[in-house]
Amino acid sequence: MGGQSFEKAVHPVVKQFCFKCHSGDDPEAEIALDGAWDVARVREQRDTWQQVAKALEGRQMPPKFMKQPTDDQRQVVLGWLQTVLGNADAVADPGRVTLRRLNRIQYINTIRDLLGVEFDAFRWKGPHAAA
Ligand code: HEC
Repeated sequence: MGGQSFEKAVHPVVKQFCFKCHSGDDPEAEIALDGAWDVARVREQRDTWQQVAKALEGRQMPPKFMKQPTDDQRQVVLGWLQTVLGNADAVADPGRVTLRRLNRIQYINTIRDLLGVEFDAFRWKGPHAAA
């Protein structure tokens, strides 16, 4: 366990469902999701990825006429982004996985186990803490 799992958690979903329109030199909405991403770069481009989280969470993307990811696929991407961006407000509702009911340690362990994300558990204040 451990390490950065953009490749495992996010890449397969955005590749399958988003690259058609959001990659290359002239992506829709100037949002290009292809290329080499890792935790540091996702944080750098947090505005883009918060938009992505909102679009996925609100089911605005992919467009209705396109093949849709499963709830599990949406949830894995949202969970990863929520953890990495460190801002629970980026995602209004964590969905079926009721992360908010877990206490902080359980939450940290769950995310780490599920997604293989490593982050600083001592500095991270939890989903409800003021920034
Ligand atoms: C069939 C083409 C297509 C696919 C596939 C697609 N998008 Fe989009 N996307 C668009 C277009 C066109 C726009 C800009 C027009 C609009 O805002 O509706 C857009 C806009 C966006 C925006 C900006 C929304 C905003 O608030 O301005 C985000 C974020 C986004 N897409 C994310 C995604 C993600 C994530 C996926 C995959 C899960 C995806 N898109 C799949 C065509 C697509």
